[in-house]
Amino acid sequence: MSQGGLQMSDVDRVRDAADIVRIVGEHVALKAKGREYVGLCPFHDDHSPSMSVVPHKQIFHCFVCGVGGDVFRFVERYHRMDFREALEYLAERCNITLTPRGRPAEADNAGGAAYSRVTLADANAQASAFFRGVLRHEQHGRAARAVIERRGISAEMVERFGLGAAPDRWDGLVAKIDLAKGDRELFRGAGLLKAREGGGHYDTFRNRLMFPLRDQIGRVIAFGARRINDDDDPKYLNSPETPLFAKSASLFGLFQAVQAIQRERTAIVTEGYTDTIACHQAGFENVVATLGTALTPGHAGILRRLCDTIVLLFDGDEAGQKAADRAVEVFFAEPIDVRIATLNRFTDAKDPDELLKREGGEVVFRRAIEASVDLLEYRFARLRERLAGAGLSALERATTEEVAKLAQLGFHRVTPIRRQLVLRRLHQITGLDDRLLADQLREHRPRAGSELEPRGPSPDAEPAEPRHMAEALSCVLAEGALWAALDEADRAMLAPEAYRSRGMQAIARVVQQIGVAGHIPSLREVLNHLSEDGDAIELAVRLHESAQRNLGDRIGAWFADCINTERRRREQSQAPGPVCDDSASLMDAVSRLRRDRAQFGDRRGVIPRPSAP
Ligand code: UTP
Ligand code: MN
Repeated sequence: MSQGGLQMSDVDRVRDAADIVRIVGEHVALKAKGREYVGLCPFHDDHSPSMSVVPHKQIFHCFVCGVGGDVFRFVERYHRMDFREALEYLAERCNITLTPRGRPAEADNAGGAAYSRVTLADANAQASAFFRGVLRHEQHGRAARAVIERRGISAEMVERFGLGAAPDRWDGLVAKIDLAKGDRELFRGAGLLKAREGGGHYDTFRNRLMFPLRDQIGRVIAFGARRINDDDDPKYLNSPETPLFAKSASLFGLFQAVQAIQRERTAIVTEGYTDTIACHQAGFENVVATLGTALTPGHAGILRRLCDTIVLLFDGDEAGQKAADRAVEVFFAEPIDVRIATLNRFTDAKDPDELLKREGGEVVFRRAIEASVDLLEYRFARLRERLAGAGLSALERATTEEVAKLAQLGFHRVTPIRRQLVLRRLHQITGLDDRLLADQLREHRPRAGSELEPRGPSPDAEPAEPRHMAEALSCVLAEGALWAALDEADRAMLAPEAYRSRGMQAIARVVQQIGVAGHIPSLREVLNHLSEDGDAIELAVRLHESAQRNLGDRIGAWFADCINTERRRREQSQAPGPVCDDSASLMDAVSRLRRDRAQFGDRRGVIPRPSAP
């Protein structure tokens, strides 16, 4: 994609206006710690806050997985956007109007068979506008409007959730696309059209109430569609998975709920779209729904970075019990409080939607949420039921099963305190000795490398630099004045050509440019110059953080040592190496090397060498 249309000033304006603490804070709960903020890193399976956000540097960095960068990089990474998308997103957040440029979507996909995420999002946005138009249409929207009215969904909620209607015909969207000279294949890629045998296309969604599924920043990534006519099957139909839409990582209503979830530090997860809408309508705004599936680790990962407590609200039938059992498996070892609330203990209403439509429904709803029980307690209650009045061998079998299950779910990964609590409860329920139970749990622990073990951060793919060369650049990034103090010859040693990896070369080039312009290559300056090069930005932040955190006030000495090492290496390699086959010239080479070393080895540069260890 050509970046020609990108105005540098746009990038700078957005960078200046976007506050990294606020932007990151919208995705991850942050706590102040000194001059920084810390939170759970969203880029690896983080269990204690490893990511810091540094306002005065406008960077974020995770000291466990090494991911870091500026505000653009965070958005690119988190939402898997390219630079332009991140820029547009941030500009919108900061009320900055970007210099218009040609539509990137088409160029994006030139010749490619698979459609990019941007293009798919564009198709979904167009479809969403179409469905909303149909809902308002006098004739084509009548049936859907009747459903909305019968269900008591307010006009405000229709707006808030962007509800629409698919017309009762095979070619509603098709005709709309043709009229706009759109690419039918793109809409097929987004799951909105299907190919007819023998050529042509038809609408996937016909005569349905349309619920747009959005990502966390509001882009429509798919649709959930409820039948209007009871004879149609299935009741709900979802868009297929695309590069833009993964069911297991999407939550209906998250975009509308994210602020309330952060504010209340609790997320309530319901089973249905209409339940979620009813909750928002009743003033419970921290509510989301899964897309007809059980909660997955992907969902858990999103929610636990936003809040401390997740309440899983089940209608209370048998399916709810099963879902709760599965939730234990997903959440057992996660450092978040998960609670189970079941509605049928408080009402005969079949789901939150039905309950909240009744007089005083909110009071009952609130009571059900307040009476939620901790997931583990819920599981133990079930175990106690199973053990009640059981004979000796049944007790043994059930206990062994439970212990094996907990071990498999990652008991060894939970915090010592929680581990102790679990042991205590198991002891109370089974009457068995804590130590015996602990031994049993250890015995069943899965071997490393099994599927349930968390994976570590992926190793760096960049080609390795000589250590002192990487460190020299790290020091410059942490303390730009070091570069300013170098003479020409020493600066040349840190030129881009001296590096092997693309990222290091990019950083070295920018440092050089800034220096030539007579400025000090501070991290801020370097990141500004790297502008769109997300990989290099990430590398620069990582180098900066490692130098600053590991070296502290030893940076100057360390830098001098790196420079001296490189100086010596170069001096030595200038002499012809002792790689000859005739022994006379070999001796010659060795003595020349000795002479050189005697002459230069002790030479001190502008920078003092650190005192010998
Ligand atoms: P329900 O059938 O409980 O939905 O399915 P509901 O919200 O009470 O539906 P209404 O009130 O009759 O409209 C709960 C969820 O399960 C998924 C949907 O995500 C739905 O919101 N589901 C249900 C499907 O994906 N397909 C189906 O056929 C049915
Ligand atoms: Mn339901």
